[in-house]
Amino acid sequence: MAKTLKTTEQTEVSEAQIAVHWKEEAYYEPSEKFKAQANLRDPRIFEKFGLDKFPDCFKVFADMLTWFEPYHTVLDTSDAPFWKWFVGGKINASYNCVDRHLAKYGSKAAFIFVPEPEAERDVAITYQDLYTRVNDVAAMLRGVGLKAGDRVTFHMPMVPELPITMLACARLGIIHSQVFGGFSGQACGSRIQDSGSRVLITMDAYWRNGTLVDHKANADIAVRTATELGQDVDKVLVWQRYPGKYSAKTPMVAGRDFFVNDLLKDHNGKTVDPVPLPSEGPLFLMYSSGTTGKPKGAQHGIAGYLCYVTATSKWILDIHPEDIYWCMADIGWITGHSYIVYGPLANAATSVLYEGVPTFPDAGRPWRIAERLGVNIFHTAPTAIRMLRKLGPQEPRKYKYHFKSMTTVGEPIEPEAWRWYYDEVGKREAVITDTWWMTETGGFLGTTVPAIHAMKPGSCGPAAPGIHPAIFDETGAEIPKGSGKAGNICIRNPWPGIMQTIWGDRDRYVKTYFAKYNRNPRSKDWRDWPFLCGDGAVQAADGYYRILGRIDDVINVAGHRLGTKEIESACLTVPEVAEAAVVPVQDELKGRVPEVYIAVKPGVPPSQDIIDRVIKANEEVIGKIARPKHVYIVPDMPKTRSGKIMRRVLAAISNRRDVGDVTTLANPDVVEQIRVMVQGKDAAKTQAELPEDIAKFGQVE
Ligand code: WTA
Repeated sequence: MAKTLKTTEQTEVSEAQIAVHWKEEAYYEPSEKFKAQANLRDPRIFEKFGLDKFPDCFKVFADMLTWFEPYHTVLDTSDAPFWKWFVGGKINASYNCVDRHLAKYGSKAAFIFVPEPEAERDVAITYQDLYTRVNDVAAMLRGVGLKAGDRVTFHMPMVPELPITMLACARLGIIHSQVFGGFSGQACGSRIQDSGSRVLITMDAYWRNGTLVDHKANADIAVRTATELGQDVDKVLVWQRYPGKYSAKTPMVAGRDFFVNDLLKDHNGKTVDPVPLPSEGPLFLMYSSGTTGKPKGAQHGIAGYLCYVTATSKWILDIHPEDIYWCMADIGWITGHSYIVYGPLANAATSVLYEGVPTFPDAGRPWRIAERLGVNIFHTAPTAIRMLRKLGPQEPRKYKYHFKSMTTVGEPIEPEAWRWYYDEVGKREAVITDTWWMTETGGFLGTTVPAIHAMKPGSCGPAAPGIHPAIFDETGAEIPKGSGKAGNICIRNPWPGIMQTIWGDRDRYVKTYFAKYNRNPRSKDWRDWPFLCGDGAVQAADGYYRILGRIDDVINVAGHRLGTKEIESACLTVPEVAEAAVVPVQDELKGRVPEVYIAVKPGVPPSQDIIDRVIKANEEVIGKIARPKHVYIVPDMPKTRSGKIMRRVLAAISNRRDVGDVTTLANPDVVEQIRVMVQGKDAAKTQAELPEDIAKFGQVE
C-alpha cells in the first residue's frame, strides 16, 4: 500500500519539490520526414479513444491480432477489478508472433543475436527458423509432461533460446515466469516457490563484461531454496551457450538436470499445433518489487496483453516490418517481454538481441552494432544513456547509423541527458519517446505519439491513446493540470495491457492498486476503480506529465525496481545484525542506489567483516544490482518515541541534506553521530532540495 500523508504535508512537499525537480523545457518537433512515414499520424485518434468510446475503442487493437475464434465481449467487469478482455475469443500468442508471418516474412530475420564477444558472429534467426525452433522446443516441453496452465520458471540470460522457449510455452498455454538472469539463485528460488513451478529452465553460461559466467551454479541454489520453501523442482532443463559443449563447472545432477539439446534430439522436426486458448488465459508472470518483502507475480493475460503491446509497438515505437529495431533492455524485465519479444514479433519486425553490457569493450559498442546491422529504431534506459555519455560523449559521431526513432524508459530522464540522446545519439534526426509505465501495466501509459506530439525533455508526454490518467491528492480530490501540484497518478479506466491479478494473491492486487481510490468495493462499474500506478506526478498546463518517482518503498536502481523491505530482510540474514534500514541515494549514473544502515546486536563489536557480509547477503539473496553503495554500522537507529526507525532522517543524511527537526525523536543525539560518520565533521551540505521520491521516503513509518 502507498503511504498516506496528511494533505497539508502533501501540498507543502509537492510545491517545493516541483520547483527543484527540473524546470519546464522547450518543445522539440518531430521532422516532416518522420511524420510522413509514421504508422500513426492522425490526431483524431484521441477522439476515437475518448472515454465516451470506451471500451469498444480497443477493438482496433484486437483487430491487429489473428484469432482462432472471435470474442463476444470486449470488456467483462463482472469480477471488478479483475478485468477480462475480449471474452469468448480463442487465440495463441506464439501463432501471432511466428506462424502468421511465415507466408510473407518467412525469410526475414525475426531476431538478430549479437553475442558479447566482438569476435563472435551475429546469428540471424528468420521467421522460418524461429517457427522450426519454437516447434521443436514446444514438442520437447510437451515431452517432459508440461501442459496448459502449468508454470515454468526461467532463469535465462539474453540469448535467442530465451524468446524461443517463451514462445514455445505460449504455444501450449504454459505460463512462463522469467526471472532476470542477474538475480541470484535464491531470488530465483523464491519465485519458483511462489509460482509453483516444477520445472526450471536455465543456461549453463553467458558472457557478461568479458567473462563467461557460470550460471548453472545459480540453478542449484534456486532449486535448494525452492525446496526449503516447500516447492519441489522435478527437472532443470539446461540450455548450452555453445551447443554440444558444457560451459559451466557446476556438475549436472543425475535424474534432475537435462541438457535441452539432448532432449531436443527426440523432437527435432516435429510440429506442434498452437493451442487455441481463451483470451483471458494467463500468458506469463513477471515478478516485481513492492512495499512488502515478498515480490509479487504480475499475471498478464494472452489477448489483452498481446494486443496492447502489438498496438503500442506499432503506434508508439513506430515499428514497421522492414525496420531493424533494437531494444537494449533485458528480456528478464517487462520491457524486454513487451518490447523485445511480443510486441515487435507480433508486428513482424526484426528485433536485435544483444547479450552483453552496452559499454563492453568500450562505449562505442552500441553504435558499432547499430551501424553494422542498420538499426533504425533504438530503445534504452536513462541509466545506459548516462553511462554511454559519460564514457564516450563523442562516440556516436564516429559511426554512420541513422535512427528514425528512439525510446527511453525506466526512470525519469534529466533534460541534460535527454539532449545528449537527442543531439549525439539521434543526430538531431530521430524522435524521442519517453515512455512511462510499469510491470503491472504491460505496456506504455504516459508517452507522446511521436508523429503527433512535440517532445518535451524531462516529461513523458500526455498518454497513449485510450489511457486516461488523473492525478489525485491524498483525499481523492483531482489535482488540475497546470496547478503545479503533485499527487498520485492513476489511470481512470482499464486497458487491455493491465495485469490480471497478482499470482495467488487477489487481495494484495485489490489493496495495492485499487483500495486507495476505490469508491465502492462492490461496484462492477470500472469508473469506480481508478488504478493507482505507484508514482508521484505533476501535469503541466499543456497536459504533459512529469513523473517524480515511486510513492511506495521501492527504490528504482538503474531502472530496476528493488523493494526496500527485500534489501532489509537480506541484511537481517547476517546473524550479528539487529536492525537494518535502507534508503535511496541519488547517483549520477544509476539514478538511485541503496545505502544501508545497520545496528548490531548488543555485545557485538562493529567490524568490516560484518559490512562485507551484509553486502554479500544482498548479492546472494537478491543479486548484484542490490549491492548497497555503503553500509554504515550505527550505534543506534534514529527512532520515534514509539520505537519506529526514522528512515527519512537517514535518507537526508545519506543525500547530504539537512535532517530537519529531530528534537521529538527518542534519541536525537544519535542523529548527529550518524551524520558525522556519513558526512564528516563539517561536510558542506547541498542546499538543493531533494527529489520527491527521496524527500517523501519513509515520511510516515
Ligand atoms: C519508473 C519498467 C519516469 C516509474 C517499464 C515506474 C519511469 C517504475 C519511466 C516501473 C519513465 C518507468 N519516466 N519514470 N519514462 N518508466 N519509470 O516495473 O517509477 O520495472 O513506477 O517497469 O519505473 O518499473 P518497472
